[in-house]
Amino acid sequence: MLTLAIIKPDAVTAGHTGKIIAHLEAEGFRIRAAEMVNLTQERAEQFYDVHRERPFFRPLVTFMTSGPALALALERENAVSHLRDVIGATDPAQAKPGTIRRLYAQSKERNAIHASDSPDNAAREVSFFFPLYGPT
Ligand code: CMP
Repeated sequence: MLTLAIIKPDAVTAGHTGKIIAHLEAEGFRIRAAEMVNLTQERAEQFYDVHRERPFFRPLVTFMTSGPALALALERENAVSHLRDVIGATDPAQAKPGTIRRLYAQSKERNAIHASDSPDNAAREVSFFFPLYGPT
């Protein structure tokens, strides 16, 4: 099973990319595809379309277009739910010790990493970044 992670611009800019990848590999994820992306406003809006009506939508798009981000298609048994456990809660202050967000995130918005929240969204999000990958 595949899921999508994005190492967000805050973590890439802070030089945490390698440590986060090592953490993911230690959790048994295999990297099936990877691309450093500079999201345009249009692409970021499309990716976060479900949040369009939320008050944090505009700042989220601004943040996600502020620098390079690393999109990763990750494979593992129970990939979607396991990755959600490994990254921790959206707000790093609420995330459990040892989770990626607790270790590397700065705030609810600048929270280091994105992970798909359901198998359906994982399929949509993997093909958003890796359209040639095929069905997940
Ligand atoms: P992500 O997993 O990428 O999915 C949606 C993002 O919106 C989330 O991580 C946060 O970065 C951001 N987000 C969610 N809730 C809030 C909030 N209350 N305030 C600011 N940003 C938020």
